[in-house]
Amino acid sequence: MIAGIDIGSTSTKVVLLDNGCILCKMRVLASDAVTAAAGALGKLDTEKGYKIQSIDGIAITGAGASKIHQDIFDIPTVKIEEIMAIGHGGKFLSKRDDIIIANIGTGTPFIEVNQNGIAHIGGTGVGGGTIIGLAKALIKTSDFNTIMDLASKGDLSRVDLMIKDIADTDISFLAKDMTASNFAKMLESATREDIAMAIINMVYQVIGMLSVFVAQSRNKDSIIVTGNGNNNAIGRNVLGSISEMYGIHFEFPEDAEFSTAIGAVLAASSA
Ligand SMILES: Nc1ncnc2c1ncn2[C@@H]1O[C@H](COP(=O)(O)OP(=O)(O)OP(=O)(O)O)[C@@H](O)[C@H]1O
Ligand SMILES: [Mg+2]
Repeated sequence: MIAGIDIGSTSTKVVLLDNGCILCKMRVLASDAVTAAAGALGKLDTEKGYKIQSIDGIAITGAGASKIHQDIFDIPTVKIEEIMAIGHGGKFLSKRDDIIIANIGTGTPFIEVNQNGIAHIGGTGVGGGTIIGLAKALIKTSDFNTIMDLASKGDLSRVDLMIKDIADTDISFLAKDMTASNFAKMLESATREDIAMAIINMVYQVIGMLSVFVAQSRNKDSIIVTGNGNNNAIGRNVLGSISEMYGIHFEFPEDAEFSTAIGAVLAASSA
């Protein structure tokens, strides 16, 4: 059994794989990398009954992996570059080997996988962390579930300037109820609900449009979405609207939150 530990900027994900089969997956929140990695293995033992001694190897990745300099609990530990881990994970979850991945975590890198290997295309600092940070500043909460709950009751057109606010007809292929400018209307009467909705909408519109341009630049018509940002239901709807307008399809594989951790194990095994 090999454990994959992805020490991300927001949370640590751990998976246990045996011959390409996922035995177990968990999420741990910890303030520093070493505590997160040790805590992740401890949780596998205490909560899932997988003894630490039965783990044959550990593959660590994510930004926090750079802070770990020795084997964890004396188990052979290898470090996998995060881009490689994201690429391998996306390939495994999508069951395809010629793909573009948008990994929506705290930030959002784009990764290309094809017969030439795995490459980092670039990305944006706009991601899940942007939602949490802006919500903290603008609507005084950084709790993810509260933000989602507020947003589900929000009205985007009270914050964003919409196409219908500036034109009497659709503009080109942009429908009247699309955003013309994020946050540009910002009514005095806009509520926390409206602002929560506008924050999530803006983050996913930015990621969605970058995805479109990345896909078009590579002659692709789909993007695999991984990272915890895969699980944002409102974000998925925003990507859905972009998909309708631009003909780029977004795929949301299961277990995408654990994609990087899974990919670390697969990258270690294929090395
Ligand atoms: N319960 C949840 N369901 C869905 N998304 C969540 C949940 N909790 C937090 N998020 C979102 O997921 C984001 C973090 O995603 P993820 O855990 O993939 O990032 P990370 O791996 O720690 O960061 P990075 O890969 O950028 O270093 C948070 O910023 C938040 O927007
Ligand atoms: Mg991550």
